[in-house]
Amino acid sequence: MHTSSNASRRNFLQQTALASASFLSAEQFLTNTETSEQTTIPSNPDRKRVLRIAHFTDVHVQPERGAAEGMTACLRHIHAQTDKPDLLLNGGDSIMDALEQNEARTQLQWDMFFETLKRENKTPIKHCIGNHDVWGWLQDKSGAKGNEQRYGKKWAVEVLGLPHRYYSFAQAGWHFIVLDSTQSRGNAGYEARLDSEQYEWLRGELATIKPTTPILVLSHIPILSMTSAFFLRKPDQNSDWTIQRNLMHSDGLQIQQLFRKYPNVKVCLSGHTHLVDRLDYTGVTYFCNGAVSGAWWKGAWQECEPGYAMVNLYNDGTFDREYCTYGWKPRE
Ligand SMILES: [Fe+2]
Ligand SMILES: [Fe+2]
Repeated sequence: MHTSSNASRRNFLQQTALASASFLSAEQFLTNTETSEQTTIPSNPDRKRVLRIAHFTDVHVQPERGAAEGMTACLRHIHAQTDKPDLLLNGGDSIMDALEQNEARTQLQWDMFFETLKRENKTPIKHCIGNHDVWGWLQDKSGAKGNEQRYGKKWAVEVLGLPHRYYSFAQAGWHFIVLDSTQSRGNAGYEARLDSEQYEWLRGELATIKPTTPILVLSHIPILSMTSAFFLRKPDQNSDWTIQRNLMHSDGLQIQQLFRKYPNVKVCLSGHTHLVDRLDYTGVTYFCNGAVSGAWWKGAWQECEPGYAMVNLYNDGTFDREYCTYGWKPRE
């Protein structure tokens, strides 16, 4: 069933794309998913860059360890690029933590984040919710009761100015889908997955986007990632390498199967593991893009120095990514 619907969609895509003389042929659009980290060889003279993005994630701002100065240094580094970004994507975990923190500490961290952002950034920006941006779920520590007006994700949605906890937008001929990875497991913490309401929304959203429009998906927690297995740097008690459900989407393969129906889903960006990797799987590239805070402002996390990614998007659905460090050294 999937095969025949794929075949008819591809036929439709070929007809649609071929009808547009100024665009790439459908075949090029479908197969041109291989890109290198540093360079991409143009396959068509009409290929041109349409958007340059700075994807920064896991800032984890806090009063300690000079985190606000680190965030400032990172934003200044982004804006000092000779080739400047058109758009910033904030991948979430903007603040050190709200899950376990009381209202006053959470407010203090959000104030620091926005004071720094407003002072240092004038470029358009879109935000994604990270697990540490969710207020109070670990009630024993946060003191929250669950009936507060800003409990859970409501505070982050409000302060980040989001239309909803997940949403989409269109820019420069691309479609952007921003997901909410974090679902509650009660006192056991959280799990990375889409709730059923969000999954149905994603299914509907993908079905409405023109097959010739390339799609970028932004999530805080990786949908698929190898570094999720390496996060703890050691196998489990059975000597197996396991991936915990709070480190990679537990529904990652369900989402991947959904993406297979839509060849215009090109690239997924995430953070959360504070590590950098790239996974190419069934026509989609999954980039995990490190962390501005590195090891939560204690230097590098494993091999990953504090940094952010510059991502170029092209009119033919191709892209490239470069991880940029900004020279931050931890405070004593
Ligand atoms: Fe994080
Ligand atoms: Fe996270």
